[in-house]
Amino acid sequence: MPVPRQRSAPSVPDTGPAIVVDRLCKRYGAFRAVDDISFTVRSGEVFAFLGPNGAGKSTTAEVIETIRAPTSGTVTVLGMDVTKRKADVVRRIGVLPQNFSSFDRITVRESLQYYARVFGSRADIDALMDLTNLRDKSAALFNTLSGGLKQRLGIAVALVCDPEIVFLDEPTTGLDPHARRQVWEVLKGLKRRGKTVFLTTHYMEEAELLADTVAIISNGRIVAIDSPARLTEKHAEQMRLTLKSIDPAAAGLIRNLGFSPIPMGDDDLCVPVKTPGDVHRILEAIQRSGLALGGLDVRKPNLEEVFLKLTSESPAAGDRDRAA
Ligand SMILES: Nc1ncnc2c1ncn2[C@@H]1O[C@H](COP(=O)(O)OP(=O)(O)O)[C@@H](O)[C@H]1O
Ligand SMILES: [Mg+2]
Repeated sequence: MPVPRQRSAPSVPDTGPAIVVDRLCKRYGAFRAVDDISFTVRSGEVFAFLGPNGAGKSTTAEVIETIRAPTSGTVTVLGMDVTKRKADVVRRIGVLPQNFSSFDRITVRESLQYYARVFGSRADIDALMDLTNLRDKSAALFNTLSGGLKQRLGIAVALVCDPEIVFLDEPTTGLDPHARRQVWEVLKGLKRRGKTVFLTTHYMEEAELLADTVAIISNGRIVAIDSPARLTEKHAEQMRLTLKSIDPAAAGLIRNLGFSPIPMGDDDLCVPVKTPGDVHRILEAIQRSGLALGGLDVRKPNLEEVFLKLTSESPAAGDRDRAA
């Protein structure tokens, strides 16, 4: 169920940051679900909170949404402290919770009409269905909708009060690639309309495609925060040369040149390199030795590699202080 909100507040132009989180901690006993994190979300941007299960994404989002109380630290939404002005904050945000559901045997249109009444909104239901590409499903019962359609209805529900900030907690988890892309189109539409979007996800592809800013969270801590392009530049400076179906003897040869080849299965070798000159040296050595080579691929790093590198560097959840 979505977070109940009351009447729509008049829309106030806001040029300041949408969200400021300062030294936020959330503990359960001595377990630090969110451990001293700080970040700012700019108005109008898509901000992705990217991390594995249990990293603290929902906890952080729900503190910002006023649902959970912080243990310490401060959070402001549109300049308002989330612990002191809960009612004012919730009027200006929309929330798609993780695992959104609605009443089974009412239609898409009836769901939206109902939630509009609950939230005291005079939302244009047809416009909401257009925005989420649900118009031709308006008479479909909730329990007949596919996962992707349910999520799009959830997004429409989050929009009934015309919020300035929309929180979407893992909107595409469990969806097939086609349905995922349709949700992405809806998210792009929100951004075009100037909404600030706070998106939690564990899909790097999603963060890389949609986000202006990505914060990578692992074990309750932010391990990196920047634009997707700068994150990949900063944290994975190496290119990767993949040598396909190569003679296994090549590994020793490449090591002798000072590189660290990684066996990838199927007789493929992956070699982290820094410059095109490195690629040239390796290929030349292979050619001179007469070893068989089936094919090759040179790739710049992507966000997935940054993510894997950063989340494997931070201590495992079990290593943190869980004692009560
Ligand atoms: N109410 C709670 N009581 C105790 N532990 C909790 C509670 N809520 C969340 N946690 C724990 O906090 C950590 C972060 O949870 P969560 O924010 O839901 O992660 P994510 O959304 O990134 O998957 C997890 O280890 C989770 O089990
Ligand atoms: Mg979650």
